[in-house]
Amino acid sequence: MAGIPHDHYEPKSGFEKWLHKRLPIVSLAYDTLMIPTPKNLNWMWIWGIVLTFCLVLQIVTGVILVMHYTPQVDMAFASIEHIMRDVNGGFFLRYMHANGASLFFIAVYIHIFRGLYYGSYKAPREVTWIIGMLIYLAMMATGFLGYVLPWGQMSFWGATVITGLFGAIPFIGEGIQTWLLGGPAVDNATLNRFFSLHYLLPFVIAALVAVHIWAFHTTGNNNPTGVEVRRGSKEEAKKDTLPFWPYFVIKDLFALAIVFLIFWAVVGFMPNYLGHPDNYIEANPLATPAHIVPEWYYLPFYAILRAFTADVWAVQFVSWITGGIVDAKFFGVLAMFGAIFVMVLAPWLDTSSTRSGRYRPAFKWWFWLLAIDFMVLMWVGARDTNFPHDWISLIGATYWFAYFLVVLPLLGIFEKPTTPPETIEEDFKHHYPDSPSAAE
Ligand code: HEM
Repeated sequence: MAGIPHDHYEPKSGFEKWLHKRLPIVSLAYDTLMIPTPKNLNWMWIWGIVLTFCLVLQIVTGVILVMHYTPQVDMAFASIEHIMRDVNGGFFLRYMHANGASLFFIAVYIHIFRGLYYGSYKAPREVTWIIGMLIYLAMMATGFLGYVLPWGQMSFWGATVITGLFGAIPFIGEGIQTWLLGGPAVDNATLNRFFSLHYLLPFVIAALVAVHIWAFHTTGNNNPTGVEVRRGSKEEAKKDTLPFWPYFVIKDLFALAIVFLIFWAVVGFMPNYLGHPDNYIEANPLATPAHIVPEWYYLPFYAILRAFTADVWAVQFVSWITGGIVDAKFFGVLAMFGAIFVMVLAPWLDTSSTRSGRYRPAFKWWFWLLAIDFMVLMWVGARDTNFPHDWISLIGATYWFAYFLVVLPLLGIFEKPTTPPETIEEDFKHHYPDSPSAAE
């Protein structure tokens, strides 16, 4: 593996040598665990581990839930109630799984915004970033599919609305929608295929995570300064880094303990806070709920979907030049996926030669505006579409695109960054002048 020079595993005993020649698995584990890691990583670098634990938690609790769940429209809702009331510890498992999804998304959003602030998406970490985006899309799909399984009112109507979005694609949309549903409407075939895919996708995510980790182990981690580890010699690299074990493992476990303390407080004391009461009513295709609201983690993108109505001039213009093929509904779908796609393109849209936002005075303002924009979109996504919500969504959605397509490219040209430290070691000494390694 290319990257930072460091000590590698040397098989010692006879057995180790024998195994190493046939399967260098110990060496892989050693190199992964002892990987030199920038020693100035701050608390924003704990979220990758939190995410890994969330994935494991979701898989373990999910696999046990499945032992008592029935993916059949007449029994799904009752089987969930059975888990909640009759299965030993069933309510706890279910609440951990449902709130685990929320923790997963809280962690991923902080992780993504961390990357956006410190420029972790920039060369040479574009592949880590793109794999991350694929993971994020797979997480969105998994969360949506899972939410349908309890077969409550929100499950059913959420599935109807979201699969309806595919129906907005010109010419082939209806065909795709029918194919996704396994029939003309959300029904038993839909529940079955959603169940199958909901079980499958976490393992696809696990594989993607392995590639994600492989990618950033190849380039080395970014860090708050955005300055690379010195790679000239092992001695220099050692001044900028510490091995992942034990330093970062202990730090990450400490952070994880705090995050999980809060998580279990939510699971124990307010497990339905983030859920919707309508999902405790069994699905009824004949009664539409008053408000169909997606889970909180989809709301910013749901707001972007709804922002572009037929009276927005940009929608009218695109509809006119495409001869009506792109109508308001399809425009909204394109905007929603486009909002994620512009994030994928961030490594190429950001033209600044300074990586970390810490040394970019103008960038900071725009970045924090983006973070606020995200929260505002999340808030407005759960509101009705009357005035002023329609305007707020439109302004919020426009800023989202403007940040990536206009602000990032232009800032690199006009902004005057401040000077980052020469080395990671220098930054570390500045922050921890009394630490023994800084005094060396
Ligand atoms: C299941 C989901 C994910 C897991 C388990 C995961 C795991 C990790 C881990 C362990 C790290 C290194 C330490 C850290 O930064 O915390 C990392 C770094 C990174 N992740 Fe993720 N990640 C996930 C999703 C994402 C997503 C959705 C993105 C956004 C596109 C992303 C972008 C990045 C980037 C750019 C880095 C490099 C930062 C650096 O160099 O330190 N990740 N990820």
